[in-house]
Parts: sequence; C-alpha cells; structure tokens
Amino acid sequence: MDPRGSRSPVLHCSAHQYTRVWIPDPDEVWRSAELTKDYKEGDKSLQLRLEDETIREYPIDVQSNQLPFLRNPDILVGENDLTALSYLHEPAVLHNLKVRFLESNHIYTYCGIVLVAINPYEQLPIYGQDVIYAYSGQNMGDMDPHIFAVAEEAYKQMARDEKNQSIIVSGESGAGKTVSAKYAMRYFATVGGSASDTNIEEKVLASSPIMEAIGNAKTTRNDNSSRFGKYIQIGFDKRYHIIGASMRTYLLEKSRVVFQADDERNYHIFYQLCAAASLPEFKELALTCAEDFFYASQGGDTSIEGVDDAEDFEKTRQAFTLLGVRESHQISIFKIIASILHLGNVEIQAERDGDSSSISVSCTPAPEIKHTQFTWFLQFYTTGNVSFHLEDTHRLFILTRNGFSSVADNFVQE
Ligand SMILES: Nc1ncnc2c1ncn2[C@@H]1O[C@H](COP(=O)(O)OP(=O)(O)OP(=O)(O)O)[C@@H](O)[C@H]1O
Ligand SMILES: [Mg+2]
Repeated sequence: MDPRGSRSPVLHCSAHQYTRVWIPDPDEVWRSAELTKDYKEGDKSLQLRLEDETIREYPIDVQSNQLPFLRNPDILVGENDLTALSYLHEPAVLHNLKVRFLESNHIYTYCGIVLVAINPYEQLPIYGQDVIYAYSGQNMGDMDPHIFAVAEEAYKQMARDEKNQSIIVSGESGAGKTVSAKYAMRYFATVGGSASDTNIEEKVLASSPIMEAIGNAKTTRNDNSSRFGKYIQIGFDKRYHIIGASMRTYLLEKSRVVFQADDERNYHIFYQLCAAASLPEFKELALTCAEDFFYASQGGDTSIEGVDDAEDFEKTRQAFTLLGVRESHQISIFKIIASILHLGNVEIQAERDGDSSSISVSCTPAPEIKHTQFTWFLQFYTTGNVSFHLEDTHRLFILTRNGFSSVADNFVQE
C-alpha cells in the first residue's frame, strides 16, 4: 500500500498510463502532462505527453525521488473552495484560480475561511449597494465567494458571539489590499449605518481619500501604492451601528519625500496641491507646477494616466471638511506641505576656506516634517475633534499587511 495514502498530492511509487500530472516549466510555471507508459518505483524517467501532444521524457532524480504533482479530475476544477480539491498543491491552486478567472470572470475563491482574490484591474459590477444587501444576513457558504461575504461573516459573528473580530488583508504590492479594505469598510458602513443623522459612517469612509493623499504614491508596481501599513478599528454600539473608528499606521516610507526612483512619484498630496496652485486661497503658497519642484519631479513623469490631481484634491478637501477639520487648519496643513516642496529647491553648498575651515549647511528636515505631520494628522482626526471616541461594546479590526517584498522595499528605503 502506498504509505502516503490515496490523497497524496504527488505521483505514487507506481502509476498507470494516462495518469495526469503537473511538471515545472520555466515559461508557463506549470504544464499539464499525461503518462504514456506505466511507471514503477525505481524507473529513472517518466514518459509524458504534454497538452500540445509533444512527447517528453521527464528524468527522475533517484536521490530525492522527486515525483511530479498529480492533477485533479476535471470535474473538480472551478470549485469555489480550494479545500474541495482532491489534491491541494501549488499547480492545483493556480490552475483552479486561473480557470475560475478566465472562464467565469470570478475573482474570488475560498480556501476554507480564507478568501483568495485576483486583481482584475478593471471595474467589475459586483460591488453595488444591491450586492451588499444581497450578502447581508446570508451564510458564507450559500453565496459566491466575495469580500462582502467575509465582511458579513465578521459582522454576524460579532453580533452573535459578542466578540471582537479581525479581518487581515495581505498580499504583495498591487494585489488589491487597499481596495479590498475599502470595500469591507463600505460594507460595514452600509449594514451598520447609524439610524441617526450623525453621518458617522460617512466620516469613517472619508478617512480613505485623506490617508491615500498623504500616505500613497505612484510606484512602478502600483499607481496608488500605500507606503505604510494600517490597522483600522471600527467601533459598534449595542445595536451594531457604527459609532466610531480609529486608525494606527506603521512604517511610513519617509525617504520618498526627498527621493523618488525613476517612474515613481512622491506622495499624491504634493501633486494635488500643485494642481490647485492657481486657486485664490493658495496664492500665498507660491506654488507652480509639480515639474518645478525637485522633490516632486525626480521620477520623471509627474502625472498618472487616468488620474486628475486637481479633482482628487477637491475630494481630499471635502474629506477633511467632513471630518471636521476647519478651513484654517486645512490651510496650515497645506502650508507645511508647500514648505516641503520649497525646501527641496533650496541649494545647499559646502564652502571651503583654505585647507582648515569649512562651512556646511545642514540638510533640510523634510522627511521628519512629513512624518510628524502624518502622525499629528492621525491623532487629530481620530480624537475628540470629530467625536471618534471608541466607547463601543464591539469592534472590528481591519489590518492591511504588505507581502514580504513590499516590507523589504520599505526596509531598504528606510
Ligand atoms: N477588486 C478590484 N477591482 C478592480 N480593480 C482593482 C481591485 N483590486 C485592486 N484593483 C486595482 O488595482 C490597483 C492596486 O490595488 P491596491 O492599491 O488595493 O493594491 P495594494 O495591495 O494596496 O498595493 P500596495 O501594497 O502597493 O499598497 C487599484 O488601484 C485598482 O486599480
Ligand atoms: Mg495599498
């Protein structure tokens, strides 16, 4: 009997002709193949036919006896939960996700209680209010996999078990963490909207345009890359209506303020402010276009295709106003941001007098200003100013966490 059992994901020590396997491929990562001859333990190679009918001899390393992964029966492929597959390994996961995405346009698949999402890079009609209501009150298993189903499950368990719940959103840069977290927040704002007219859920959602303006930037991997990690707490009252939110941030990439790599940009707010430079209320900031500022132009292109910085600036200002940040406070924030841009254009020269004395001007503290401002701002809008006290009985946490590569990027750049 095979010691690995009948559900072993790799080829057994003997296998019949027509058994289907996955073999590694330098271009396609994994390729499907079929045995053209029976295999028994000790054979030095497998005789395979690839899907394009090519015949290939697949050598087996006798030392490691590494045999290929078995392919699932076609009837299982396309399942909305990966745990339903007979064989669960990398090629099976990738193939199942690919089939669901390419053949049915499904971007979501479960793996038990984990939701796997593929970034479609196009707006799908699956996030409307009607879809939120369709998921509200439903069981996870009764509906198609969706971020709203995960949010509903957390909401339901909070209500049923009276326990705080957490949703962790993880993935590499550009995977869709920020977008997913925003959809989850929208779900809570809709199903947990307060009956009163305090607009508290609108205030919770208004945090996104502001945090993205001051904490997101265009990178080579993502036009709207979050250059910090965040931990959002949403508080609910006894009737499960939102009563407040708070956010903690981690590891803001400060170095970006003074340096941007090719094809990257500084934080969006700098470009938004430049795009609004001609407005009468910003005349005294003496700003011009972003190309004129060293701290905004090192990456080359100062614009992002499909993004209107002036329009986004309006959204940022509206969000500030909604959160209760007074006009005068907003102007103070914009003054600090404008001052960073001006500081970047100051040229600093070391002077040498003979061979003994030298005078140097110390470097501008722009990254520190930005960081202090970021932290101050967070404290401002998550405290009393907008009644965001967390006197709640229940909380939901959303933690967005970058994959290793982004963390490593941040680490290197810090
Ligand atoms: N569900 C989705 N539907 C449509 N487009 C999406 C979806 N998720 C992500 N995108 C697209 O992908 C882009 C990148 O997504 P997002 O900013 O959420 O990535 P991220 O994981 O937060 O990356 P980073 O770690 O760099 O912050 C979005 O700006 C959007 O254009
Ligand atoms: Mg992000």
